[in-house]
Amino acid sequence: MQIPDTLKKKAAEIGFRYPEDKRQSGLIPLLFEVQRELGWITPEAEAWVAETLGVTEVKVREVITFYSMMRAEPSGKYLIQVCQNIACCLTGGEELQHHIEKKLGIHPGETTKDGMFTLKCVECLGGCSWGPMMLVNEDQYFQLSKEKVDKVIDGLRAGEPLVADNPTPLLGNVAGETVA
Ligand code: FES
Repeated sequence: MQIPDTLKKKAAEIGFRYPEDKRQSGLIPLLFEVQRELGWITPEAEAWVAETLGVTEVKVREVITFYSMMRAEPSGKYLIQVCQNIACCLTGGEELQHHIEKKLGIHPGETTKDGMFTLKCVECLGGCSWGPMMLVNEDQYFQLSKEKVDKVIDGLRAGEPLVADNPTPLLGNVAGETVA
């Protein structure tokens, strides 16, 4: 697989943010760019990231497998990750997961036939006080209700721009900014 020129350009831009001897600090931002561009971090892209930043492939793999927002396998356009840890369960996380399964017609680990959504159940997403919560790609949604989830999913299906509760700054968004 050829690495797209757009991605090479982004890698160069990210590299400029760090001193020459600290280029490996660009690992997470570059992995997010790969994911955005290719939909997931392919084995070829993984090797390219390691070579580009001068880190070992093992190091890249460690990062990809540690963070739940990193995609190490193909998934739908939108990866919905629902927290199933205790704090979110106490505020209705499990019920919410069943609601999403029913709405999308898939179980955790599956992708809808149209390739739009993949559902995953994950451990703590770091927003325990505002549960139940989920990530849609890299953006966080807190204090979810069935109605709020429906609004997010229906909006994505309709191609509407959405405002996440907390878009990740790693992707250049700031809280409150409209996200595609
Ligand atoms: S328990 Fe759900 S975010 Fe921590």
